[in-house]
Amino acid sequence: MAARVYTLAQRPRLRAEFSRLHGVAWPPFLRDDAVNAVWPRLYSQFPACQIALCDDAGHVVAIGNGIPIVWDGTRRGLPDRIVDVITRGCQARALCALAAIVDPGQRTRGLSSKIVLAMRDVAARHGLASLVAPVRPSLKGRYPLPPMSRYARWTRDDGTPFDPWFRVHARLGARVLRITPRGNTVVASVKDWEERTGMAFPVSGRYIVPDAFQPIVVDRERDRVHYDEANVWMLHRVPLQQEDDPPG
Ligand SMILES: CC(C)(COP(=O)(O)OP(=O)(O)OC[C@H]1O[C@@H](n2cnc3c(N)ncnc32)[C@H](O)[C@@H]1OP(=O)(O)O)[C@@H](O)C(=O)NCCC(=O)NCCS
Repeated sequence: MAARVYTLAQRPRLRAEFSRLHGVAWPPFLRDDAVNAVWPRLYSQFPACQIALCDDAGHVVAIGNGIPIVWDGTRRGLPDRIVDVITRGCQARALCALAAIVDPGQRTRGLSSKIVLAMRDVAARHGLASLVAPVRPSLKGRYPLPPMSRYARWTRDDGTPFDPWFRVHARLGARVLRITPRGNTVVASVKDWEERTGMAFPVSGRYIVPDAFQPIVVDRERDRVHYDEANVWMLHRVPLQQEDDPPG
């Protein structure tokens, strides 16, 4: 028999088959109410981790239930109880975007929102109901004087965010959660910073450096330059149920 594997995300209509097989699988005494209370979350939050084997006629012949969990790799790090596995798994609720880069030759063609949408799809396929991103606004480097908290609230005349990268996220439905003042922190010697920026820093103090989000702080006595770059945490809610595949 050739069996095909589908996830519940691909075939939401198979949900009842999961219950059917659970109904015939276990000895009657094995009824853990704590597990039963959280089990439906597998189907609502992690449909991409619930798999069904279908025969040629499309009947479900076997199923598997799973959930991604945070695990430190140690024996002791494994939960004692099944209910703890599910509870822990349900805490891993977000995909965190770390970077989105469009090839310089391909920019300003609308590709950036496609990347964000594709990341949301990745989150959905992994049962993650949120995509969070420490967003690095594209134009902040041209406006190094206002703090990020103020810059993030700037809008255009049409009410949309002033910064184009904020705008992309906002247009896709994301909302700001909070500013993180030290998303990137760069500390290096004065010589390093002079090489990296092509500038000279003859005395201690604050300097505006091209593309830096805020002035850098030069301490010549300690031979130390400090730069904190703020990012803005944004949240995209991710719909978990995907369209059913066409029958294959
Ligand atoms: C930020 C980045 C991903 C945007 O990609 P892109 O494909 O060029 O952007 P899009 O064509 O989708 O345009 C998105 C918005 O930015 C605007 N935009 C694009 N380039 C711009 C520029 N140089 N100046 C001002 N606005 C710009 C577009 O007009 C659009 O806004 P609108 O539709 O509201 O008018 C891209 O510039 C990049 O890779 N930058 C380097 C890496 C980076 O900073 N990534 C983000 C942080 S991880």
